[in-house]
Amino acid sequence: MEKLEQILNQGLSAFEAIDNPADLDQVKSRFIGKNGALTELLKGLGKLSAEERPAAGARINEVKDKLEQALAVRRDALREQQLQAQLAKESLDVSLPGRGTGRGGMHPVSRTLERIEALFHSIGFEIAQGPEIETDFYNFTALNIPENHPARAMHDTFYVDAQHVLRTHTSPVQVRYMEENQPPLKIIAPGRVFRVDSDATHSPMFHQVEGLWVDEEISFANLKGVVQDFLQRFFERDDLQVRFRPSFFPFTEPSAEMDMSWNGGWLEIGGCGMVHPNVLKHVNIDSEKYIGFAFGLGVERLAMLRYGVNDLRLFFENDLKFLKQFN
Ligand code: FA5
Repeated sequence: MEKLEQILNQGLSAFEAIDNPADLDQVKSRFIGKNGALTELLKGLGKLSAEERPAAGARINEVKDKLEQALAVRRDALREQQLQAQLAKESLDVSLPGRGTGRGGMHPVSRTLERIEALFHSIGFEIAQGPEIETDFYNFTALNIPENHPARAMHDTFYVDAQHVLRTHTSPVQVRYMEENQPPLKIIAPGRVFRVDSDATHSPMFHQVEGLWVDEEISFANLKGVVQDFLQRFFERDDLQVRFRPSFFPFTEPSAEMDMSWNGGWLEIGGCGMVHPNVLKHVNIDSEKYIGFAFGLGVERLAMLRYGVNDLRLFFENDLKFLKQFN
């Protein structure tokens, strides 16, 4: 019996001393395995008297149960310890500041476009779009610029092939829209356009916003009102003036260049006019009944003025030192 108590105590403290679950099995076999200390004792039962034997056997089994229980408890504890250690090692502090926190911002031209769209939308203009690779027909012919017309030379066109060009202005969207919709029409068409052109105020790719309003009674006065109201709100200046200079576009008659007052002088910001009856004819709109105005604004010009940028090419060089100022 004394030996039994010894084995129990030795076993319990041996299990406690182990700190790796894999080693537990080894220690287990030392006490309750096939050749363990308890099995040795069981073998010795035969030497006891018949009266002593049952009590001793029962006690041995009791000790065996206790050791097995202690072993299971220790095994669970070690596994839990191991799990906690691993979790601690792999833990991630989500409150730590990240690396590379530089924030992106919207490009000033995109910002300008959004502002233009919002302002026109607020006075009832829908937004229309057309393709950037345009057919010669929509870019020129349908706009009353027939083949060999000298006005084609004004546009410094990038040709894709004999029938296709990179659109030189947003005016073809007028034609596409009028083909699909009947008056009254009130749209703007913002988008990219392309010309063989490059200096401080001209870029080979730039943006225009086309405006078109066709209804039964539309006049040049409406055109002036819409453009002046837009520019005053765009620049947040009630005293801003708009001036129209006689000009020529084959698709409008009469036509004008639009200037706005700026720093005591005048700055050109786009072209405009009353839609030419030939353009309406091309899209089967009755030019006796309907009349309309159209205009085309240079978006980068407006962005340059609003942000005080003096070279248009800066918008497209993507120099972060420049772009970061708009974050
Ligand atoms: C046109 O493109 C006409 N389609 C505008 C129009 C529409 C007239 C509807 C009548 C009715 P223009 O070529 O003038 O017109 O260009 C309009 C504006 O685009 C110019 O005033 C200028 O602000 C801008 N622009 C022209 N070329 C460039 C360029 N290379 N880089 C940046 N902006 C340009």
